Amino acid sequence: MNKSLGFASHCVHRGTDRATTRSHTLPIYPTSSFDFASLEQGQRIFSGSEKGHLYGRFGNPTVDEVSEKLTALETYSLDMEAAGMMVSSGMSAISTLMLGLLRPGDKVLTQGNLYGGTTELFRSLLAPLGYPVHFTNLKDLDGVEAMLEKEPSIKVLYFETPANPTMACVDMAALVDLARRYDCITVADNTFCTPYIQQPFRFGVDFVIHSTTKYLNGHGNSVAGFIAGRDVELMEDTIFSTMKLAGTNCNPWDAWLLFNGLKTLELRMERHSENAMRVAHFLEGHPAVEGVNYVGLLSHPDHKLAQKQMRRFGGMLSFELKGGLEAGEAFMRKLQFCILAPTMGDVDTLVMHPASMSHRSVPRELRLENDITDGLVRLSVGIETVEDILGDLEQALSGLRSEV
Ligand SMILES: Cc1ncc(COP(=O)(O)O)c(C=O)c1O
Repeated sequence: MNKSLGFASHCVHRGTDRATTRSHTLPIYPTSSFDFASLEQGQRIFSGSEKGHLYGRFGNPTVDEVSEKLTALETYSLDMEAAGMMVSSGMSAISTLMLGLLRPGDKVLTQGNLYGGTTELFRSLLAPLGYPVHFTNLKDLDGVEAMLEKEPSIKVLYFETPANPTMACVDMAALVDLARRYDCITVADNTFCTPYIQQPFRFGVDFVIHSTTKYLNGHGNSVAGFIAGRDVELMEDTIFSTMKLAGTNCNPWDAWLLFNGLKTLELRMERHSENAMRVAHFLEGHPAVEGVNYVGLLSHPDHKLAQKQMRRFGGMLSFELKGGLEAGEAFMRKLQFCILAPTMGDVDTLVMHPASMSHRSVPRELRLENDITDGLVRLSVGIETVEDILGDLEQALSGLRSEV
């Protein structure tokens, strides 16, 4: 630091970079911009003739490193090119991608049993902007084909598999095949699975989005999202510009927390799957339980499809109690170990009531049409000692039986 500078200048200027060794872990760059060694270098980086960071909204070394890691995981062992980009949340992954892909007159075709926020985004934000969204049963492939044939303006076929919270699956390869025949882009929300369990690119899907807030981070301390696309040019050009202009960039702190979570992704997903299978069997055999939705159970209507698309069955399940809504509420009040929280995919076991929480804004008819009943309880099975989870469920259910 120049000794002739004033006190305030000493406070403000950053000093010399004294790093003599490399950081073992990913450093966080909490900076809104990046300075240039010279005017000429600044001009070269701005013009694109030299690679480099400029401004935090356009990119940040911490965030870029995480984007690269997620792209590598989403394309792991697949012989393909792809580009990926972190954004500020799962919702911003969906909105950024849709704003980038859709042009006036374009329509979206999707399923009625999406995450409630996505349904609301399509109905309340995209539709009034002039991008109509059709909700249909994407398992009915003949019906989907009839719609694509009738409506050439359907540009995007959007799906979630397994869907939140019913765990209903759609056949990605079959939908991709139809979409390609009708010049339509496919987008899969892979939040429930993570690329360890399922890789939509393997089935030909064009774009994959994530709420990294969930399993990818796994520790409930970061909100962020991710978009990956097999069309590298489109990603680097249109989708990147949309992110930049809409200002939906991810901040380095959340990216860094996500990066730490990713280190244990495989271990966590294995344990989530193992614990969820035990919990699903326990619930299925319990007299107070009407039905369990877990794709790992032979009784799940999409078990075979899930086996084809997923490496493991994951940690998410939902179930209905014999006493419906009243029983479900009584059960949730009695839980002591499992935590009531409106999120999923964390290391601890989380319970949620979709009808009054995540799917509150979805019209009741659309909810019921898609089996998201008033009494349905969603369980995100954690990685704790499974006997503790089972013990809590048992005590909450047995207390309940004497009440209903
Ligand atoms: C399947 C799915 N996709 C997207 C989102 C939205 O993610 P975020 O809360 O990070 O915006 C959620 C949130 O619960 C979700 O469950």
